[in-house]
Amino acid sequence: MKKVSNLQFKAPLFDTLLAHAKRNVTSFHCPGHKNGRSIDKELENYTGEEVYKFDVTVFDEVDSLHDPVGPIKKAQELMAQAYDVEHSFFLVNGTSVGNMAMFLAACDSGDSIIVSRSSHKSIMAGIIMSGVWPIWVQPEINQNLDLIFSTTYSQIRNALDRYPESKAVFITSPTYNGVVTELSKIVDLCHRRGKIVLVDEAHGAHLHFNQQLPESAVEAGADLCVQSTHKTLSAMSQGSALHFNSKLIDFNRVKKIVSMLQTTSPNYLTLASLDLARRQVYLHGEENFDRVIKAAEWGRSCINNNISSMKCFTRQEIQKLGFDLDITKLTVNVTKTGLSGYEIESILAKEYNIQLDYADLFNLVAIMGEGSNKTDVEIFVKALESINKKYHGKQKNWILKIPSLATEMVIRPREVFLSNNTKKS
Ligand SMILES: Cc1ncc(COP(=O)(O)O)c(C=O)c1O
Repeated sequence: MKKVSNLQFKAPLFDTLLAHAKRNVTSFHCPGHKNGRSIDKELENYTGEEVYKFDVTVFDEVDSLHDPVGPIKKAQELMAQAYDVEHSFFLVNGTSVGNMAMFLAACDSGDSIIVSRSSHKSIMAGIIMSGVWPIWVQPEINQNLDLIFSTTYSQIRNALDRYPESKAVFITSPTYNGVVTELSKIVDLCHRRGKIVLVDEAHGAHLHFNQQLPESAVEAGADLCVQSTHKTLSAMSQGSALHFNSKLIDFNRVKKIVSMLQTTSPNYLTLASLDLARRQVYLHGEENFDRVIKAAEWGRSCINNNISSMKCFTRQEIQKLGFDLDITKLTVNVTKTGLSGYEIESILAKEYNIQLDYADLFNLVAIMGEGSNKTDVEIFVKALESINKKYHGKQKNWILKIPSLATEMVIRPREVFLSNNTKKS
């Protein structure tokens, strides 16, 4: 049983904003809607009026994200305690900004960094901004499961052997499909060789809080790790956290860079939701995610047992391949329906009122979060059963392939980006 810290019952930033909102302070500060007074009435009729009183700006009472000394500082400290790291930074431009910050914080221009080619677009932004040489690692693919994997331990070891000058290693784990790589082994290896480990854990803010789930990057000992608190926990969109836990990176440099990249007008509702999401998952993550896991596993077995043209891979199948699986994610392979994942995603939206987060040629990905329940999964499974009966196309012979990385890198992405010769679109 985890020992609960009494401090974790508090939500210092939310409490401050609530107290401020209740006082109906006369506003001569931004934003211009003045505690919601000039918010569009159609919007206000739908949402209610109180929420806009949280939309304030930086002043002493509510603290500053850039140099916190009050409730934001306390809220970030509680986040760090919950994740058991040295420091947590609240982010208001999602994990995208956190990824850019990690590159700029860990590397100098001209450094080399090992990165999987299958990374989020913000990674390329980080590479361009920081001026590093990316050492691309080709992700493993599995043509039976039609799946692109994360970087493996042996791939990292080979890359480190071949490019011992690399300063850092950048890993994305979990992938969009919830596949988690052998992070502890990778971190141990990198640290033994004095290399920094950066992890894009956009889809894994919940992993630390439920024993059934795979190991998270913070537990594995990553130097920096960024999580989209808004993706699987209950923070508002754009709410993410960057966790610092390193002897290899200068903390003050991280702090400066995070500040350089973020707006000076953060949305305080998003910030307060980070504070509350942390409290909720710390206190109730175990039971909340037990519920989500139960629903997801129920859905997985219904699809595998009852829907002939669709298949969800299981944790056991993924473990046999040397990875682990976040079982809250449902990846449904639809190749036998004769339709692509994109087509079924569109059918689900138009005919069944179900919106997915992601689909590709082969798969649908249903992302479950702390607010998901069994009824959602029942609706999803029923819709898939109906699609299975209605559509009997011929199975396509598509094969998952990715472009080769054989090209020699002779110029850094930053120089290409800044070159006058780039084509104007
Ligand atoms: C692996 C990965 N990293 C980073 C991001 C960006 O996260 P955010 O939307 O919080 O900026 C995403 C978004 O989908 C993602 O899938």
